[in-house]
Amino acid sequence: MTPDRGTRKRGLPIRRASRAGSRWALAVPSTGRHALRMESPAALEAQRTLESRVAAIDSRLDLFDEIARLKRERNAVILAHYYQEPDIQDIADFIGDSLQLSQEAKRTAADVIVFCGVHFMAETAKILNPEKKVVLPDLEAGCSLAEGCPADRFAAWRQRFPGAVAVSYINCSADVKALSDIICTSSNAEKIVRSIPADKTVLFAPDRNLGKWVEKRTGRDMKLWLGSCVVHETFSERKLVALVDAHPDAEVIAHPECEEPILRRAKFVGSTSALLGYVTKSPAKAFIVATEPGILHQMQKAAPEKTLIAAPPEGNCACNECPFMKRNSLEKVYLALRDLQPEITLDESVRVRALASVERMLSLS
Ligand code: 13P
Ligand code: SF4
Repeated sequence: MTPDRGTRKRGLPIRRASRAGSRWALAVPSTGRHALRMESPAALEAQRTLESRVAAIDSRLDLFDEIARLKRERNAVILAHYYQEPDIQDIADFIGDSLQLSQEAKRTAADVIVFCGVHFMAETAKILNPEKKVVLPDLEAGCSLAEGCPADRFAAWRQRFPGAVAVSYINCSADVKALSDIICTSSNAEKIVRSIPADKTVLFAPDRNLGKWVEKRTGRDMKLWLGSCVVHETFSERKLVALVDAHPDAEVIAHPECEEPILRRAKFVGSTSALLGYVTKSPAKAFIVATEPGILHQMQKAAPEKTLIAAPPEGNCACNECPFMKRNSLEKVYLALRDLQPEITLDESVRVRALASVERMLSLS
């Protein structure tokens, strides 16, 4: 899809404009948003400040031109996850899944990384690049998996299994990475677990659904942390069945963070990049996609002749959209480049220990 620059200046309904004419089909009306938990008065104040900085942006600015200019001036690179809104994907230098983004963060020669994704992803870029400035357009772009696995509780859980190997999904904080033996993403979790000697107990945190899927693939019994993704646990099996009945030729494809009843109905299960690759290569003409619908933007570009249907959540809401990913906007990307904040900072001893577990993953990927 060619960017329509005329509709992408500030103040216009950017996301609607981007979707117009596409063959995406949201099976439910986009009405609701998750309420976000604000941690502290300081976080609330930072959020208010960010919102007022957004409101103060000169509406005559062409944000696309400004972002391109600032990127050159700062020698910056924009890395974006597939769940970012289409406009952000269109201005990104690199779009990828969690693994590809960490690999790209490791290889970039830029001085500044603008990470258009969520906090744990930007933190991973900083773990790999202590000398670079890493900015996240909205610091409140968190993740339910990372939030549901605080480092103190994770450390206590680990202690209950002496000698076990702790595999942590990249969707966790730097503190949890520092307490882990090795990191994995949805695209390499099976391979990472298979690399661990059979006589070792494996602890897998924080996503129980990905953990259960890896158990099924490897036949390995693991101790699972009982976390989940608020987005992927929202898909409705009942509505999915109805959708399959209405579109008998469509193939169901799903991210492994989905719950078992959804995964059971999927023809293909994989990470965001694997799902994109599958849609491109499969001879099928229509797909029901059980993951965050941001991925449909690249699917549509890669396979414009195919029909993509977003799998429906149980409620009449837009809860299949990640409320954290969607905190970033073009305006906030512009501000992050202009002001080089909000910046990701890390305690050096945590960073060094987290780096060891991230590097172990990268060397196996
Ligand atoms: P990927 O590893 O497929 O990018 O998934 C990341 C994520 O947060 C999914 O919810
Ligand atoms: Fe976290 Fe789920 Fe959002 Fe991915 S989609 S960032 S796992 S809350």
